[in-house]
Amino acid sequence: MKGVLLAGGTGSRLHPLTRITNKHLLPIYDRPMISYAIEAVVNAGITEVMLVTGGTHAGEFLRLLGNGHEFGIDRLSYGYQDRPGGIAEALGLAERFVGDDPVLVMLADNIVGGSIRPMVEAFCADPHGARILLTPVQEERHLRHLGVPDFDDGGRVRGIVEKPADPPSKFGVTGIYCYDADVFRVIPTLEPSGRGELEITDVNNHYIRQGAMAFDVLEGFWGDAGESIDAYYAVNDFVREHGANKG
Ligand code: DAU
Repeated sequence: MKGVLLAGGTGSRLHPLTRITNKHLLPIYDRPMISYAIEAVVNAGITEVMLVTGGTHAGEFLRLLGNGHEFGIDRLSYGYQDRPGGIAEALGLAERFVGDDPVLVMLADNIVGGSIRPMVEAFCADPHGARILLTPVQEERHLRHLGVPDFDDGGRVRGIVEKPADPPSKFGVTGIYCYDADVFRVIPTLEPSGRGELEITDVNNHYIRQGAMAFDVLEGFWGDAGESIDAYYAVNDFVREHGANKG
């Protein structure tokens, strides 16, 4: 299984901090944010990784990560996204790197307290379709910033609503996804959303319509450090107190 870390975008919700650097290079406690996503992917047993970034600070990732060996990566590739055209567009840049393999995709502003290995192992056991990782979220205000699954009576996900005004459940879709290589056939069929981006939620809804979507519920802490300045500090506080990627 290959890993793709997405670290592009504008980071506009963390302006002005992100005017002078890439969001994923900002510190979370004692390390740059990107290190935590790398650790999560490596702890899940994945050692071939592509990092996709963009903007004017892409070179700093090379300076930080080099060939990736220090971080436990055997083969680290880099991709450059010319403009922030969306998460699905960024993933599309990894097509040749991924080839016919299954792929774990992680948004590099996501931080987990525990391990994502159970999800990766479940997908590797049956590497077809897609698998997403959900997290329980109580506050409506928070759910409105996320992708939120809508469940049918049998407990299956029948759709995901991106940033819903009226959230259909109390779960958020984390930025951690497994796909088969067909994902690269799905991305070219997408239309830009209202915010002008190719949305990963549209990719996931495609798999749901095909009846090819599974999900897990993450155990323990999950945070999106790019969601707001308050979320950024909440993640910092958690990591300082408890650490991340335990187990
Ligand atoms: O964090 C979980 C949420 O992430 C999900 O619940 C949502 O369904 C999903 O759409 C996404 O929402 P965000 O609003 O948080 O996405 P954002 O635009 O902040 O992008 C998240 C990461 O994706 C960011 O850290 C860098 C990467 N990215 C984003 C864009 C727009 C890219 O690499 N390129 C891009 O063009």
